[in-house]
Amino acid sequence: MTGAVGIERLSAYLPLYSLALDDLAEARGVEPQKYRIGLGLESMAITPACEDTVTLAANAAAPLFASGEVDPHEIGLLLVATESAVDHAKPVSIFVHELLRAQPACRTYELKHACYSGTAALMTAVQWVASGAARGRKALVIAADIARYDVGSAGEPTQGAGAVAMLVSDRPRLLSVDFRGSGAFAEGVFDFWRPLDRSAALVDGKYSVDCYLRALDGAYRDFEAHRRSAHEASPLPLVDRFGAFLYHVPFPKMASKAHRRLLEADFALRGEDEAPSDDFVEGSLASAVSPYLQACRAVGNSYTASLYFCLAHLLDRDGGRLSHEPISLFSYGSGCCAEFFSGVVGPDAARDDSGLSALLAARRQISVAEYEALRSGQAAPPDAPPDGFRGHFFFAGTERDRRRYLPTS
Ligand code: CAA
Repeated sequence: MTGAVGIERLSAYLPLYSLALDDLAEARGVEPQKYRIGLGLESMAITPACEDTVTLAANAAAPLFASGEVDPHEIGLLLVATESAVDHAKPVSIFVHELLRAQPACRTYELKHACYSGTAALMTAVQWVASGAARGRKALVIAADIARYDVGSAGEPTQGAGAVAMLVSDRPRLLSVDFRGSGAFAEGVFDFWRPLDRSAALVDGKYSVDCYLRALDGAYRDFEAHRRSAHEASPLPLVDRFGAFLYHVPFPKMASKAHRRLLEADFALRGEDEAPSDDFVEGSLASAVSPYLQACRAVGNSYTASLYFCLAHLLDRDGGRLSHEPISLFSYGSGCCAEFFSGVVGPDAARDDSGLSALLAARRQISVAEYEALRSGQAAPPDAPPDGFRGHFFFAGTERDRRRYLPTS
């Protein structure tokens, strides 16, 4: 098979609560501008006690099936990418498979590589379809995470949560993915990790920023090396090749740093004598990067899902304008593995809605005290979800060490 393959449908999901970072800054005795300007964040998504990674994932995918436009029996591959799994053995994917009533004839598993595994899952699904192994079936890829650092740590303002579900098929109405030309980079580093007995990640913050940028350099060089061996010798400048540049967003300022680094690498690879000027970088940021960071400013880090929240926002906001245009995507997972790849925005991108704006508008702002109570585990999973809950399923606690999920009535 040689036809286009990629994302046919996309649905985003956010938990009900959000915490304003101005409130967190005040509580921690930090200048609010550090979070707003220094990190680029306004608020972060917080999960109520009735929500975990399983419900985030299932609630992201459920609208795709609820409309009747996608049949669960079409799904032959169901992948869930997450850093924040709920069990050491039983994968999030099989809980989701059960909740969505997917067919038994389905390969399903969970993927882990910090924030990178959403892209690993997407590429696996795209290649499964492209290889012909799908035999006309479709893949459901879900990136779902709850980002947690210790309360009071430097990482605390860069938490968040959310999920993005993507239906992958040979009808890429929203984005066709160029899986043949992607560039990868891997290196064993301890920049961010989470030992098995911890619920909050450990991080070497400044070092993690360096690792991210080095991985971007490496993945982009691999992308270019492949492209040059396959195509022309003197490429157009990057800014003329892509209508938008999407990044993994641990915090929005990281994407700005990454874009500057990418443009520098592009200038160097094309043999330019000088580095790009500040005006050039700022202009490119303003037109092709910053507009797609708005969701992440309000959600915070959602690890595997964060790059795909940028994609959801791009499709919702500019899907019509960018239709048929190539865009670039950069995925980074600590530890580390990274991938730089491209796709072409599909013809129907203007018609679909990921649900993101409605979810953002429906969130309830909680206080720092409520957030700290949730983090300390004082709030037990309830019998019913709180008022305003928009998910199709909620977590109802454990029984004999088995997790229970119920439909929202
Ligand atoms: N007004 C405006 N800006 C201010 C300011 C103020 N009053 N005070 C500080 N700032 C700026 C600083 O100058 C700095 O900007 P630059 O990076 O451009 O220099 C920025 O705010 C942050 O300040 P600090 O470096 O002092 O912040 P910090 O020590 O508190 O740590 C952090 C920041 C390392 C990102 C920390 O939040 C952290 O560890 N976060 C988690 C790790 C992370 O997200 N790493 C990203 C790469 S790894 C990855 O991508 C995988 C993943 O998802 C985890």
